[in-house]
Formats: sequence, C-alpha cells, structure tokens
Amino acid sequence: MAEFRLPPNSRVHKGKYFACQDSDPENIRKISVYRYDPEDGNGPRLDTYEIDTEKCGPMLLDAIIKIKNEIDSTLTFRRSCREGICGSCAMNINGTNTLACTTAISDLKGDIAIYPLPHMLVVKDLVCDMSHFYAQYESIQPWLKSDNTPSRNAERLQSIEDREKLDGLYECILCACCSTSCPSYWWNSDKYLGPAILLQAYRWIADSRDDYSGERLDQLMDPFKLYRCHTIMNCTKTCPKGLNPAKAISEIKKLMVERKGV
Ligand code: SF4
Ligand code: SF4
Ligand code: FES
Repeated sequence: MAEFRLPPNSRVHKGKYFACQDSDPENIRKISVYRYDPEDGNGPRLDTYEIDTEKCGPMLLDAIIKIKNEIDSTLTFRRSCREGICGSCAMNINGTNTLACTTAISDLKGDIAIYPLPHMLVVKDLVCDMSHFYAQYESIQPWLKSDNTPSRNAERLQSIEDREKLDGLYECILCACCSTSCPSYWWNSDKYLGPAILLQAYRWIADSRDDYSGERLDQLMDPFKLYRCHTIMNCTKTCPKGLNPAKAISEIKKLMVERKGV
C-alpha cells in the first residue's frame, strides 16, 4: 500500500519541554507551540511550556507573551492591539483559526496546541508570510472610487438604508482566519481570492458611494478568482469577528447572475 508522508524537513518533531517550578499543579496548563527557524536547518518542532494560570492574564495571548518574556525569548509571533482589532495575532489554536487575544485560556479544553495559520508559508514560528494575501487585497482596489468630487469640506452622504448594507462587511480586520480555513484557498490560493478578499471586494461593490461596482464585478468574473468558492462554509464558521464571508461571496455571485439577466 502506498504510504504518504510529509518530506522529512516538514515533519514536526518533538521539541523542548519547559516545566514550571514551584506552582500548584492544579493551576498548570500545558501549551505546545509550533517552532520553526529557517536558519537552524532542523525543521519544525513542537515545544511545550507549562504556564501557571494564577500568574498569567486570562487570554491565550497573555500566556504567549508570558512565555516570550519569562521562559523563552526566542519565540516569535505577531500581536499589536490585544483586543481583536488589528488581526495580527491570528493563529491555529486547538485546531481552529482564531485570535489569541480574544481566546480565553479557560475556554480551551485540555492541553493547548498552537500552530501558525494553515497552508501559509512560515517565516518563523507563528509568523506567516502575508505578502500574497495583501497583494490579493490590493488587487481588488480597496478604496472608494467615485467620479463625483464633493464640494470642499462636504461629506459623501449615504441614506441609513445604504449605510446598513455595509454592516457585517466593514468590521473585517483582515486576520485571514477565514481564507486559511478554506479548502479551495488551500489548493488554489495562487488564483482564487479567498473569502477574506472577496468579502472586502463586496464591501466596495455594496457601497452606494462607489461608482465602479460594474468594473469591480468585471474584475471578479473569472473561473478562479470568485468561482472556486464551493460554499463549504469553513470561512463563516471560523471568523473570530462573527462575520459571514460565504454570504458576501454568494451576494457577488447573485449580482453576476442578475446583471446577465439569467
Ligand atoms: S472575514 Fe472574519 S476571518 Fe475573514 S479576514 Fe475578515 S475578520 Fe478575519
Ligand atoms: S464558503 Fe467558499 S470561501 Fe468559504 S470556506 Fe467554503 S469554499 Fe471557502
Ligand atoms: S493582537 Fe490585535 S487582534 Fe489580537
């Protein structure tokens, strides 16, 4: 029988164990973290850290910062706002893509395992290379495009109803949790835009102040950019902001059909 295995330099090996001294065993949580340093030539490993929850903040990001500050300064990760706004602490926690800063340690069952976002190139430890994701974001021209210049100091007004059409879209923080949970994006991320970028594309298509929705739809009319979505719904299930990228994608598809008059 054929045996399929990752190449040796991609297999995750057992790493170091950092035990916590002088703590009540009742308060100890074990956190295993994916470690990868492209410069050491050793391939990835899983290091395990014991954390005393009585001496740590309540969120998983608090524990990661504690590891970095007090146990192992070589650990590399991204974070900024620590309140679910910047999207930079997105990672795979116990099998789910989410934000470390809005995940309470007490909500995680058993030992905790943290990996970088799946199917992304890893720069180091929990830091992924987001260049391609951001280039895809740039490709949808995520800014207001209008032929009308408002008079000086005037605002571009919207009705309350038109403004409400942006609810569920403008809140996206571009954390990429959805795109990196999408099987279609795993296989075709070179050409498929993925749920995060398509939700952002719809955010501008749906904006009553934008005059280029037709051109924006033209740009998405492509067998890969849009139509690789097969409504698997992983994206909506995982979004840490409670958004629904699958619905945004289906709204774009609906507009495509409507304008064809089918
Ligand atoms: S839709 Fe949700 S999961 Fe996707 S990038 Fe935006 S905030 Fe993150
Ligand atoms: S609904 Fe579409 S975008 Fe969302 S996970 Fe499924 S295939 Fe990906
Ligand atoms: S640190 Fe900004 S979203 Fe978590």
